[in-house]
Amino acid sequence: MTTNTQPEVNIGLVGHVDHGKTTLVQALSGEWTDQHSEEMKRGISIRLGYADATFRECPEEESPHSYTVEETCGEHDVETDVLRTVSFVDAPGHETLMATMLSGASIMDGAVLVVSAGEPVPQAQTEEHLMALDIIGIDNIVVAQNKIDLVDEEQARENYREIQEFVEGTVAEDAPIVPVSAQQGVNMDLLIDAVEREIPTPERDPEADAEMLVARSFDINRPGTTWDSLSGGVLGGSLVQGELEADDEIQLRPGREVEEGGQTEWQPVETTVRSLQAGGQTVEKATPGGLLGVGTGLDPSITKGDALAGQVAGPPGTLPPTHEQFTMDVDLLDRIVGENAGDVEEISTGEPLMMTIGTATTVGSVTSARGGEAEVALQRPVCAREGAKIAINRRLGGRWRLIGIGTLRE
Ligand code: GTP
Repeated sequence: MTTNTQPEVNIGLVGHVDHGKTTLVQALSGEWTDQHSEEMKRGISIRLGYADATFRECPEEESPHSYTVEETCGEHDVETDVLRTVSFVDAPGHETLMATMLSGASIMDGAVLVVSAGEPVPQAQTEEHLMALDIIGIDNIVVAQNKIDLVDEEQARENYREIQEFVEGTVAEDAPIVPVSAQQGVNMDLLIDAVEREIPTPERDPEADAEMLVARSFDINRPGTTWDSLSGGVLGGSLVQGELEADDEIQLRPGREVEEGGQTEWQPVETTVRSLQAGGQTVEKATPGGLLGVGTGLDPSITKGDALAGQVAGPPGTLPPTHEQFTMDVDLLDRIVGENAGDVEEISTGEPLMMTIGTATTVGSVTSARGGEAEVALQRPVCAREGAKIAINRRLGGRWRLIGIGTLRE
């Protein structure tokens, strides 16, 4: 079958630890992340799990039971029709990985919030993740009420009511709640139906300049590789706009810290796209949505060990500016979300904050704070546009807690 199976939309899987995000992605996509090449698999799934699923429709069945991920269906094994390919970003549920969840959120077009039917609602990260979706502005949400095989019908109904109550007044207020068992593959058709309705592929401007958020970077050469067979550095991330093709010239910002005349400064890095991998295959052209592997002409020592994670790539001269400090308008939460909740105190001058902007996470120190704005000096600069959303975290009780959202000012 000749259909385009490049992923066209990124769907976040969020929710409390062990509620079944990974199992759900497995149920929808078959083997976990193994459509990607070894180096991508090794790298990205650890920090930000990632897998593609192609949603299909069975011509012999009525909607919504026609939805499937199988290539054939019915008694006569007829071929199913491809609807679209989606990428799941599986954000880790563990509390200390909140920053990773937030950097994942910057590339999510919608999200599935997984809630276990077997536990009281909400659990800490159920609430924290929903709040993060809310402040980042992800409002295309489907709630998967998972593990219904573990409870009886009455418990399932009670849990369903608890979920309804919990989402009331939040960004997920109107989100469909679909009872499923990821492990038993129950109601996957209804879940696909809900995702197809609630999380449309965003309109993309094909003329826009390419802009890729880099989430990971690698040196894919095995130790001992000789210089004449070295592969260039690899970037992993997602295109938020535009298209990339082999031989395109790209720039990475902020780039690298270089020393010149006793002074250090950040300079953009330029290179050429050598190869592209998307949807598990080598492609000529990469389009927005889904995870992308970009082989470049960069010296692999520059890309090794995620050294370029958090950077932005695109045609030279088109990228947003690099900021070593910035002013942001601040919108603080009333209360810390999740465990050990408490009131959120005003931001004060001199305090350290951890901020996530796009896929970049950087620590900065507040140089001035008044009313609804704060000025911060960053340890590592970021490349971002005016109006970019910034997740603001404060160190409380030994870990970074989300306290609000900022908007970058020029
Ligand atoms: P983190 O990635 O650690 O946040 O966890 P997760 O949310 O991805 O959970 P995961 O998919 O790893 O599932 C946690 C446990 O719940 C595993 O032992 C699964 O087998 C089990 N599980 C997941 N879905 C179901 C389900 O529908 N029914 C039952 N009975 N068990 C399930």
